[in-house]
Amino acid sequence: MSAFDPAVFSRNSRFEVDHLKIASVSASALVADFGSPLFVVDEEDFRSRASHWKSALEEAFGESAGTVYYAAKSFISKEVARWVDQVGIGLDVCTGGELAVAEAIGFPAGRVELHGNNKSEDEIRIAISYGVHTIVIDSFFEIERVARIASELGVVQRVYIRVTPGVEAHTHEFISTAHEDVKFGFSLASGAAWDAISAIRAENSLRLMGLHSHIGSQIFESEGFAAAAAKLITLLARFKDTYGHELSELDLGGGYGIAYLPGEETLDPSRILNELADIVKRECASAQISVPIISIEPGRAIVGPTTTTLYTVGTTKDVELDGGLSRRYIAVDGGMSDNIRPALYGAEYIAIVANRLPLGPNRNSRVVGKHCESGDIIIREIELSADIQPGDILAVPATGAYGYSMASNYNHVPRPAVVAVNQGNARVIVRRESISDLLALEN
Ligand code: LLP
Repeated sequence: MSAFDPAVFSRNSRFEVDHLKIASVSASALVADFGSPLFVVDEEDFRSRASHWKSALEEAFGESAGTVYYAAKSFISKEVARWVDQVGIGLDVCTGGELAVAEAIGFPAGRVELHGNNKSEDEIRIAISYGVHTIVIDSFFEIERVARIASELGVVQRVYIRVTPGVEAHTHEFISTAHEDVKFGFSLASGAAWDAISAIRAENSLRLMGLHSHIGSQIFESEGFAAAAAKLITLLARFKDTYGHELSELDLGGGYGIAYLPGEETLDPSRILNELADIVKRECASAQISVPIISIEPGRAIVGPTTTTLYTVGTTKDVELDGGLSRRYIAVDGGMSDNIRPALYGAEYIAIVANRLPLGPNRNSRVVGKHCESGDIIIREIELSADIQPGDILAVPATGAYGYSMASNYNHVPRPAVVAVNQGNARVIVRRESISDLLALEN
């Protein structure tokens, strides 16, 4: 398990003779120059994945292709927002903070979509003033709030309704979002979604353009997306029957799965979107409505595989287990503050030695962080070389999504830097936080 597997590392990663290189920059040089722990983003890989989702949507849906909105929550920074803009896709933001990143680089407002189940009045006002293309309405309270603020600003705001179609996505409960018992959106089954349609239509400052659903994350099968699409299409058909014209847009959200471990797959955009297009076209034909403009919101599938975290080993210790077994604890200089996913979702990762060729044999190992908590585990169980020593660099791939973006300052640990690498060059896109940054917050 501790060998380099190109399928889980970013596209321009190689293990050359005795060390890892990402976009032709060695892991050791990265740590020497920028410190550790370090998030390393393969810029070309990010751009090409983003472009691939765009072209795959266009090919699958033809003239019904809408916008690929990159889900900023997976990881956003000003530089990443520039890449997203340059690739020509849109940005899904779900807080004022994410919107501020877009504004800071002048991201075209016409390609921004605002989400959030509890948007503040300030967030709504700023978003409408900025001119965001679409606001996805999540509750009855929000209908009144968005309508009132749009009206004060003299704007007719395009909106979608977030529908919870009652689909059980096969993923972790905390990242499954479209079953009935969740905080998000308007339930289809209870009639709330239908009531929201009429409530929005009664507001002169809102223009209802379509429906949205996001069923969850790290999904591999098209069934969940298909079931959600079919239910939303039924609602679109009911709209047409009732109001005599069509709602012309449908946003199917994100959630496309990626490989974290050897042997897992990263969903191919063309394959999944072609499958979805077939289903959407078929359901629309049977419901006798036109195929709506289809948008999607992939986050993880664009940024997840592009990024590798580099850690430096600080200590190791061996523990005897029952039955004559043993485990080696390998402690690195980060942990649950830069990757909460194992603790929160039981997410699994691999690690390799990045600064040299490890010399076996392997040992049953556990990679842990530096936090004061036994659950501060990055990899619960992995075979790693017995010769790992303090000072070695471990590389953990596929940490681009929900790694930095969910990072914390637990134990007053400053957040790592994020470095972009491209064709032999490395540059900081988010500088390392310092203890002074943290103390500056305090009186
Ligand atoms: N659209 C909406 C409305 C969402 O809520 C999300 C994710 C996405 C798009 C993007 O989903 P993606 O393509 O990245 O799966 N922290 C969790 C994931 C939470 C996702 C929340 N919403 C994790 O680390 O797995």
